[in-house]
Amino acid sequence: MKASFEPKILAFCCNWCAYTGADLAGTSRLQYPPNVKIVRVMCSSRVDPGHIFRAFEKGVDGILVAGCHPGECHYISGNEKAEERVETAKKAAELIGLGEDRIRLEWISASEGARFAEVIKDFIEEIKVKGPSPVGGDG
Ligand code: FES
Repeated sequence: MKASFEPKILAFCCNWCAYTGADLAGTSRLQYPPNVKIVRVMCSSRVDPGHIFRAFEKGVDGILVAGCHPGECHYISGNEKAEERVETAKKAAELIGLGEDRIRLEWISASEGARFAEVIKDFIEEIKVKGPSPVGGDG
């Protein structure tokens, strides 16, 4: 059963770095699994735990928040805020039995298309091992 499980992954990507990295992966024809849906946000700091848990309620199995590398956020310290918010979401996920490792934070620059593809592949493999999310799925 688990062998055929294809996780649904939602990736919040900041406009200036991670989204451009994802775009570069596409234009460079780098292969990564199609299980990921990307939501473009202006900065990783725009993603709060409410967005994350709403996505789990809707049936995703893992959430990636991807922003600019430390010191490179276009809004100065947005990625530091993102780190705090993701940490809060991870603690809540652990408390409710969802598991903190269904939420991942990564720094991906505009030139790191290959890194974007690798992060997605690696995260999908990790979530495959964990199995489907125990919450959500109501559409
Ligand atoms: Fe990319 Fe803030 S603009 S993390």
